[in-house]
Amino acid sequence: MSKFEEIIDRKGSSSVKWDLTKTVFGKEDVLPMWVADMDFLPPQNVLEALETRLKHGIFGYTFVGDKTATSIKDWLQKRHGWQIETSWLQYSPGVVPAISTIIQALTIPGDKVLVQSPVYTPFFNLVEDNGREIVNAQLDYHDGSYSIDYQAFEESLQTGVKLFLLCNPHNPSGRVWKKEELTKMAELCHKHDVVIVSDEIHSDLVYKSHSHIPLASLHETYRDRTITCIAPSKTFNLAGLQASAMITSNPDIREKIASVHKKQGFFTLNTFGIIGMEAAYRHGEQWLEEILEYLQENVKVTAAFIEEHLPGLKLVNPEGTYLLWIDCTNLNLSDEELKSRLLDQGKLALEPGTKYGPGGEGFVRMNIACPRETLMDGLERLKVALGS
Ligand SMILES: Cc1ncc(COP(=O)(O)O)c(C=O)c1O
Repeated sequence: MSKFEEIIDRKGSSSVKWDLTKTVFGKEDVLPMWVADMDFLPPQNVLEALETRLKHGIFGYTFVGDKTATSIKDWLQKRHGWQIETSWLQYSPGVVPAISTIIQALTIPGDKVLVQSPVYTPFFNLVEDNGREIVNAQLDYHDGSYSIDYQAFEESLQTGVKLFLLCNPHNPSGRVWKKEELTKMAELCHKHDVVIVSDEIHSDLVYKSHSHIPLASLHETYRDRTITCIAPSKTFNLAGLQASAMITSNPDIREKIASVHKKQGFFTLNTFGIIGMEAAYRHGEQWLEEILEYLQENVKVTAAFIEEHLPGLKLVNPEGTYLLWIDCTNLNLSDEELKSRLLDQGKLALEPGTKYGPGGEGFVRMNIACPRETLMDGLERLKVALGS
């Protein structure tokens, strides 16, 4: 039996996914397949590194040292063929706070920030909560797959956009942007002098026959106008440790980010975040290979189930991420009906597509990073809710 088959009860562990369904969905008796974390244990050697640190017993202020930086650098070189320098690294308790910091560092209230909907909800919130303005170049959706409308993209840049928030791999569509696509977007940002934030939090979770390309690795010109955000949180299921890194070769940008951190009074990460991040990047590769196989099988099982039992639904084939984007538009249900069928009939908590902005209507997002038994339970509930 695969170690990923083990069902671990997360209820009562202050888990957002398992313990907040009543607050978020108004219901307790639902299977949660929403928030993007996994129901699996992280790599054993990460647990051991955390245990060793716990046993030390003193949790005074801890800095992010060269050992951690080296583990990140080695990981990026080995997994993504990207060579970075230690001086390019800055840290943040998460990618979401990192993006907010970058928005504050590089734009002023009223500035325009470009996103590509449907996209990860905080991209919208962070821009608006910081008093900046959203410009949206919606992705094209045809024949079950997503692509970039470059004309709309450039027209959006021409409205005076200062910052572009790229999601690569893209949540929720599961696209892993190809070299040509990244180059074209980067070229256009260069032409219109727009800085790029490349959120690459899902970069390690890419399926066979696709490969992740860090946008900043394409060319020096693009690299110097890019801040790449990475974290071990999605890859190794360590979101609660709250550790992430921002990477930019541009010293002016780093200085501006450092200045916002200073204003926030932020100067280091949680001790366990530092230990977990270092151990995961140093020792987690074998585990990652195993989980990718398991997740790939979960995708296959889901695709086969939908084809057999839910012909009204269309699964957008994921190239990466454990978040499946399911097109329910053929059912002709309103988003309210979709929600109530899932929650009341299916007893299933999925993310509604409307959360991801224009283009998300009639879709749902399902997190399949769970043991197969849980997945099958979720799929049966989906059938009860949306089957004919
Ligand atoms: C694209 C993207 N960015 C950022 C995050 C969250 O980042 P963090 O927990 O490090 O703030 C997520 C989580 O789902 C995500 O999908």
